[in-house]
Amino acid sequence: RKPKITVVGSINMDIVVEADRSPEQGETVMGKDFQMIPGGKGANQAVAAARLGAEVTMIGCVGDDPFADVLLKNLQSEGIHTENVEPVTGSSSGMASITLSEQDNRIIVVPGANSEVTKERLSGCLDVLDRSDMVIMQLEIPVKTIEYVTGYCKSNGIPVLLNPAPVQPLTKEVLEQVSYLTPNETEERDLSLNMEHTDRLIVTQGKKGVLYYHNERPVIVPGYSVDVVDTTGAGDTFNGALAVHLAQGASLEEAIRFANAASALSVTKLGAQTGMPTMAELRKFIQEQEGQS
Ligand code: RIB
Ligand code: NA
Repeated sequence: RKPKITVVGSINMDIVVEADRSPEQGETVMGKDFQMIPGGKGANQAVAAARLGAEVTMIGCVGDDPFADVLLKNLQSEGIHTENVEPVTGSSSGMASITLSEQDNRIIVVPGANSEVTKERLSGCLDVLDRSDMVIMQLEIPVKTIEYVTGYCKSNGIPVLLNPAPVQPLTKEVLEQVSYLTPNETEERDLSLNMEHTDRLIVTQGKKGVLYYHNERPVIVPGYSVDVVDTTGAGDTFNGALAVHLAQGASLEEAIRFANAASALSVTKLGAQTGMPTMAELRKFIQEQEGQS
């Protein structure tokens, strides 16, 4: 059976500008290319999970601008259920301004309609949560909603994977109620977690790999090295893939390996969702990598 994954999260249009370097303060530089590509941490994680064979339902909001339709159709083209993606009148769709240069990526996210993914709205889709093998969330929607969904899922035995990005302060309850917490190194530091949380902690550390704890001992699962084109969405691919494999009953270590491979493939193409692999592509990549080692 396909794992049923519900994503409660953001949907953005990514406005991607490429330049040789980012401008200094007050400076203008000439750019090389400009593209509008569907993104948003919630939608990205939904697409990552759907490409790997999960049955995915998205709960979120779009605005009432021309982007809304493009964003909805993009999710539908990936086979994601969008009955619970609501257009919000008088709001713009979520938007991310992304500058890609040789040295770095710089992102500004404007939530727009993502701020309307409220607790009240969620209380109307509890049946969707009930039918999920796993619920995944990020922090581009109001924290009150995260608290509500986490509490509901805990009381009803539904596993929650929370990717705390971009980082915001979280309550002790949320940290205790989630099944998996997947910060990167900076997010982990900012959350000031204590050792009580190690059993659910999975820390992505870029090139170094991914850290988790086994019997309270840190274990590092190394990543794969590939030619990087665009790292935007690498974390989202990791989270979507991790959720799929965990929901299929894989061990944490196996799921992390699988998610590392998915995320490695995703960075080889421009755009958050473009390089996200299908199951067949992912299996082929893992085989090739194993053949080389
Ligand atoms: O994680 C990458 C995503 O963050 C981008 O797609 C952008 O929309 C921002 O939300
Ligand atoms: Na990519």
